[in-house]
Amino acid sequence: MRLENKNAVVTGGAMGIGRAISLAFAREGARVAVVDLDTVQADDTVGMIGEAGGEAFSIAADIGSAEQVGYMAAEIKDRFGTVDILANNAGSRIVKPFLEHTEEDWRQMLDTNLTGHFLVCKALVPLMLEAGGGHIVNTCSIASVQGRPNRIGYCAAKGGFLTFTKALAADLCDKNIRVNALAPGMIETPMNQALADDPDIGEKWNTENLVGRWGQPEDVAKAAVFLASADADFMTGTTLQLDGGAISAYVRAGEMESR
Ligand SMILES: NC(=O)c1ccc[n+]([C@@H]2O[C@H](COP(=O)([O-])OP(=O)(O)OC[C@H]3O[C@@H](n4cnc5c(N)ncnc54)[C@H](O)[C@@H]3O)[C@@H](O)[C@H]2O)c1
Repeated sequence: MRLENKNAVVTGGAMGIGRAISLAFAREGARVAVVDLDTVQADDTVGMIGEAGGEAFSIAADIGSAEQVGYMAAEIKDRFGTVDILANNAGSRIVKPFLEHTEEDWRQMLDTNLTGHFLVCKALVPLMLEAGGGHIVNTCSIASVQGRPNRIGYCAAKGGFLTFTKALAADLCDKNIRVNALAPGMIETPMNQALADDPDIGEKWNTENLVGRWGQPEDVAKAAVFLASADADFMTGTTLQLDGGAISAYVRAGEMESR
């Protein structure tokens, strides 16, 4: 087991990619704190980990609120003492045209997808220092490096999150803390379920990456385990693309239809 006896915190662990990361960390021997707004689903993740013989608990917190992050960190200090692994994964997305995007939408996108990760790192890095070091894994996105229509706040925040990852890697490099990013493409999660289930969009988007299918949360979780483990000790400030090759090669309409 690659994460045996490690204390791991996963934000946004109630569903989707965060749930898959929580389950994968637990399978590799970590104790997992599942942090999320959605307490019901977070408890379901904890239940799944328990059924599989792992150890986990949930904490309700909005990562965009400094006060709630403070309570969350106090509880983690109580339960864990120190932290070895932090997966900054919570995120949400507002899809609407630029002209309809309000200041409130913009601030919500930055609070959840950028400021929240800063607050969580500020609160938990001291506990990682007490452990003598650790691994931080940030769920960025292909939207960190690529503009997408109708997602102005999300793309801006995700772009910032990727640069944040690199800057934090530099700030913590002498403290035995590695900071790396995951950049998922289209992953079939609750965030995207309506698109995946749409008979036109779901099928069409299968042809828009080289592998030729939607990604699954487990595709991302496997990479998260790697970046959280000692196997990634010589990696920091870098990004693993989990996008079926979407960023590496542009596929024009019709070019992959023979598959
Ligand atoms: N699904 C994709 O195709 C995709 C692609 C690229 C990046 N991502 C990123 O992956 C991460 C996980 O996405 P997902 O697809 O699993 O989404 P999801 O909506 O299925 O799950 C996101 C989780 O984050 C939680 N969350 C949202 N805002 C929060 C907050 N302020 N505080 C605490 N918890 C909060 C939600 O309650 C939910 O449990 C996100 O950061 C997302 O931006 C997803």
